Amino acid sequence: MATLVDGFGRTFPYLRLSLTEACNFRCSYCLPDGYRADGRPTFLTLEEVRRLVRGFAAVGMRKIRLTGGEPSLRKDLPSIIAAVSATPGVQKIALTTNGCLLPRHVRLWREAGLTALNVSLDSLQPARFAAITGHDRFDEVMEGVEIAQGLGFAAVKLNAVLLRGLNDDELPAWMDFLRDRDVAIRFIELMRTGTNLAYFERHHYRAEALEQQLIDTGWMLRPRAPDAGPAREYAHPDYRGRIGIIAPYSKDFCAGCNRLRVTARGDLRLCLFGDFGIPLRPLLQSDDDHEALAARIASQLGLKAAGHGLHQGNTGITPHLASIGG
Ligand code: 5AD
Ligand code: SF4
Repeated sequence: MATLVDGFGRTFPYLRLSLTEACNFRCSYCLPDGYRADGRPTFLTLEEVRRLVRGFAAVGMRKIRLTGGEPSLRKDLPSIIAAVSATPGVQKIALTTNGCLLPRHVRLWREAGLTALNVSLDSLQPARFAAITGHDRFDEVMEGVEIAQGLGFAAVKLNAVLLRGLNDDELPAWMDFLRDRDVAIRFIELMRTGTNLAYFERHHYRAEALEQQLIDTGWMLRPRAPDAGPAREYAHPDYRGRIGIIAPYSKDFCAGCNRLRVTARGDLRLCLFGDFGIPLRPLLQSDDDHEALAARIASQLGLKAAGHGLHQGNTGITPHLASIGG
């Protein structure tokens, strides 16, 4: 099977697919007023997702991440996972979730073929968690994480967005948490989006500052797998868990880019902060369009830019990450 290579020598074994723009949380950096549907959004159906994934697998995609919005709000999520799992070539299926439905559904997802899980957890303090997400659901999320850890996933990872003044003092608490747990926490530097400018100015905290604290306390950088995300992952002999740093403003962030994105409405996005989407949906209506779909994906890659324009304050067409899946 072919492998896609862009004009900068990057390959793209990794697809992030958003299944819905809807979310039941109101994270202060993402959807502070909650999700509001514009008109009657129709997100990709199970059949469209199945064809889409088959098309990407034909051009070298090996790992897929299902995102949102909040993907667990899709009633047909288990069927979607099963359909993706049955696609030849797909080796890893990960899901990013805010975690509140984990206790109810995570076993089912695992049985359907899910191989990895990322759960957003911005604070280890329930009151702070509630303040940041707008929902007092810390206990359910933690319970869900504990259950997930017993299900044999290849990886269970937690994500915390670093927020100055809101959660930037929790590294010691996280270290305690990781001492005996086989989990990875990744600290994500807050990204500026189309709708969070004032918030960004107030709460942006540089990931490198946290990274320096790790290095100073004996954490060591681990080698990066070819299909790995942009995290720089650290380990420490005294701790079972690992700590990842995702620093979108660091100079090599885009050089290591190995992912493509598709929105919940079926637009291919070459970059999280790009200026345009390429509609794939017309080619998802019939199995007969499989070849044309693969060809369209391949031809679009030539247009992928070397890097995002965030340093110039250019956030592209992404109003917030719920619309594209982070
Ligand atoms: N900056 C950084 N991370 C963000 N996320 C959502 N919005 C932002 C932002 N502006 C994170 C969520 C979740 C993941 C999908 O993306 O917290 O962990
Ligand atoms: Fe929902 Fe994720 Fe946005 Fe929070 S960050 S509001 S959980 S989409």
